[in-house]
Amino acid sequence: MGSIIEDELFSSSVVKDLHALDFDFVPSELPHRTEQLKRLALMFKPVLSHTAQNAFIRGPVGTGKTAMTKHFCHSLVHIARKQGTIIEYVHINCRKRSTDAMVLLGVLTHFDPRFPDRGFSVQEMQQVLRTQLARKEAHLLLVLDEVDALVKKSGTNLLYDLTRFNDDVQTGRTPVSVIMISQKDVFAHFDAASLSTFKRSTAIVLEKYSRDELVDIVRQRVSLAFHGNTVLGESIELIADIAGESGDARFAIELLWKAGLYADEKHVKQVVPEHVRAAKAETFSVVTETKLQALGKQELLLLLSIAKRLQKDGSAYASTGEVEQTYMVTCEEYSEEPRAHTMMWNYLKKIEEAGFISMKRSGKGQVGTTQLISLPDIPAEVLRDKLEKLLT
Ligand SMILES: Nc1ncnc2c1ncn2[C@@H]1O[C@H](COP(=O)(O)OP(=O)(O)OP(=O)(O)O)[C@@H](O)[C@H]1O
Ligand SMILES: [Mg+2]
Repeated sequence: MGSIIEDELFSSSVVKDLHALDFDFVPSELPHRTEQLKRLALMFKPVLSHTAQNAFIRGPVGTGKTAMTKHFCHSLVHIARKQGTIIEYVHINCRKRSTDAMVLLGVLTHFDPRFPDRGFSVQEMQQVLRTQLARKEAHLLLVLDEVDALVKKSGTNLLYDLTRFNDDVQTGRTPVSVIMISQKDVFAHFDAASLSTFKRSTAIVLEKYSRDELVDIVRQRVSLAFHGNTVLGESIELIADIAGESGDARFAIELLWKAGLYADEKHVKQVVPEHVRAAKAETFSVVTETKLQALGKQELLLLLSIAKRLQKDGSAYASTGEVEQTYMVTCEEYSEEPRAHTMMWNYLKKIEEAGFISMKRSGKGQVGTTQLISLPDIPAEVLRDKLEKLLT
């Protein structure tokens, strides 16, 4: 037994640097984000002379919002330091810190790791921050990543306060610049006062990566993380094809990483397209499993009905009416009482929020609210299998 384990531990790997495949690894070059980085640099030029600047970065999943912002902020801090300006860069993920107090605490522990995590009000913490910045003569570059979580839970008070941090001091300088990042536009949730501050801030919108852009991104990651000649060009192309549908670089890199694991598992020296296909199948299954756990029984039954319907018809869309018919039959099979039509709508919404289906209004001008349902990310057959296992 020991020697089996030893064999595996010391077996050779196609990967030379696993760290370069980490989700939070930021490569020193970001292909296809040069223009956006230039724009950021131009926008934040005033910060070098202590003039605050705010920005909003928006774009769909895996378009490099976090990576690009980290890359930019680290460079800015470094360049500013060379000319004697102190910029303190703090990157807060608002999904993890979604209240004003938690964000401020995150900022303050950057300055003092032992800052007590209770006992200070939001006002007091702001005062401490003000003192810290004044004492260090530093400018705070605060990145609020996934800021929608903060805005949703706690509103925009903190954003408002931070961007007007020093209105009452003689210098008139604001020592805080804020970069907000979000997949969606969050301004809809802003009140008028906060909006007036941020309207002036410039937005940068990142588009989904095209298939060809993903080829470059994956190729770069291959050279950073893999030994030479271990990943076939065709495998890179296939990864880009698969991830090209969503334009998501994270998905592409995840496929690359998993394909590498498959090659190692098979003890072969090259990552071939079959490994990519296996990686794709597995990625769907892991993501799906966690998302399914969030759904209730009725929602699972309804989702199963959608999968069955789409599989049977082999079509891209099923109407709500068709799904409802199948749902009645499915409930009977599982001896469950079907819920009323109105509840069905709630279930569909939840399933959509969980990311399984997308819905769009039928364009045929029919009466009522006929919606067309599709399964954009997962083959109906795969989903059906999973659901049937889960429901028995
Ligand atoms: N232009 C690029 N070049 C190289 N790697 C990139 C590029 N863009 C993104 N990546 C990599 O893809 C992954 C996802 O990027 P990132 O985390 O920045 O996406 P995001 O837009 O913040 O997504 P989310 O909305 O889910 O937070 C990271 O591993 C990142 O390093
Ligand atoms: Mg991100």
